[in-house]
Amino acid sequence: MADEKHTGPLWRSLLRPVYRAVAGAPGVRHLVAREAARLGARDWTAHLVARFLEGDAGAAYGVTRRDRERLLEAIQETLANVQSGTPFAVHVLLAEALLSVPADAQGDAVECGVWKGASACTLSRVCGMTGRRLKVCDSFEGLPDDGGKLHTGLHTQVYGYYEAGMFAGARAEVEANLRQYGELGACDFIEGYFNESLAQLDGAVVFGFVDVDLESSMQECLRALWPRMVEGAYLYSDDAGDLAVVKVFFDDAWWREQLACDAPGFVGSGCGLPLSPMYSAIGYTRKLTAFRADDWKRVPFLHYPD
Ligand SMILES: C[S@@+](CC[C@H](N)C(=O)[O-])C[C@H]1O[C@@H](n2cnc3c(N)ncnc32)[C@H](O)[C@@H]1O
Repeated sequence: MADEKHTGPLWRSLLRPVYRAVAGAPGVRHLVAREAARLGARDWTAHLVARFLEGDAGAAYGVTRRDRERLLEAIQETLANVQSGTPFAVHVLLAEALLSVPADAQGDAVECGVWKGASACTLSRVCGMTGRRLKVCDSFEGLPDDGGKLHTGLHTQVYGYYEAGMFAGARAEVEANLRQYGELGACDFIEGYFNESLAQLDGAVVFGFVDVDLESSMQECLRALWPRMVEGAYLYSDDAGDLAVVKVFFDDAWWREQLACDAPGFVGSGCGLPLSPMYSAIGYTRKLTAFRADDWKRVPFLHYPD
């Protein structure tokens, strides 16, 4: 009895060598790990969805729980039909963040890096619900050449290269997707490579989503967007896993020279915000030019001179 308590029933000990032989094989081990990560991620996504539905994101715009439910259905439909670089959980997070922009903040939402328009479908729907414009910015010809640089994910241990033209989504295709799955009427298109096209941006920016893969593209987006961002605005990026891109957000010399301020840092550097137990590619920074103690919390383990 005591033995069985520690080792389990006999059938299990007989099967253990078989399990080790099968599950230990490199290909199978990879599949098992991937499936375990997928199952684990389901709970995390469920938590995110519950927070989104039960929270009050968008209430200041008159958005109801039923509206948020419909938005989730629309996101699912988009992802079932449009090739996307961003998963469901990221769409929910971005929708929640854009709905949480204070209703009295004046300005547009901007997406740089659109591909087939999947994330733009979600953001444009939220813009439609909140009366904002979405600036949809892309070459619509894919990535520019980045000189064959090596890209690595330190946390994911993934490596590879980008090629000019990767992630191309023709403007007509993006428009068709936005018409069918998003809200085309809430969008303004800014077409061309960022180093020239983003000069067309005008007005204030209350929310940014920059998903552009390359360090040089990120720098071009920041140069154009940051001065237009209102105080407190969030800028999300789905490039959190690539430290070459993330390091731009910590490069004080670059920020002082280009934008006359200190580097803001980036939340989620290297492994992303906790949208799954393993990894996500989404992170953010925030434009805060001054510290206002009223906006922050005090904690027992820090000292306050007053
Ligand atoms: C990974 S895809 C975006 C994926 C999209 N956000 C989604 O969720 O499906 C990267 C996009 O960035 C665009 N891009 C990157 N660098 C660019 C640049 N310098 N100028 C214009 N577009 C650029 C590419 O054309 C491509 O559409």
